[in-house]
Amino acid sequence: MTRTLIVSSSLDELEKASLWLIRYLPKSLSESKKNNIVLVVQEMVTNAIIHGNKSIKSKEVFLSLKIIENTSITFTIEDEGLGLSSLPSKEEAKKMDYLQEGGRGLKLAVLLSDDIQIKENKVILVFTI
Ligand SMILES: Nc1ncnc2c1ncn2[C@@H]1O[C@H](COP(=O)(O)OP(=O)(O)O)[C@@H](O)[C@H]1O
Ligand SMILES: [Mg+2]
Repeated sequence: MTRTLIVSSSLDELEKASLWLIRYLPKSLSESKKNNIVLVVQEMVTNAIIHGNKSIKSKEVFLSLKIIENTSITFTIEDEGLGLSSLPSKEEAKKMDYLQEGGRGLKLAVLLSDDIQIKENKVILVFTI
């Protein structure tokens, strides 16, 4: 199953993206796994809006969710920005300062996803189920 959603670059759209995601997540997933996925996706959508699209409302964020039953959830977030240059390693991510205001999003994504890749202005997250 594949679903897509396009949102504009305003943080008001975060709720829409979260509700969309929750609607399609498999009912069989544990609450904690669902919470982790929603948390990571919210961080990535926030990054796409703020860092990628520089909060220019007319720029869009393209979300795609692909669920392979009992196997995996692949979530892609694409923005209209210049792209991401690198990801923190797992080791760097584990040293995260939880109280620091910035720099937690990608580290959370690295720690809570089962695979993460960046391709220009696209983040591809895989969660196994
Ligand atoms: N979609 C994106 N486009 C461009 N740069 C990005 C994007 N997402 C993240 N980044 C870069 O990676 C950095 C780290 O992101 P993150 O870990 O979420 O921390 P924060 O958002 O608090 O800066 C950002 O400050 C930004 O420079
Ligand atoms: Mg962030």
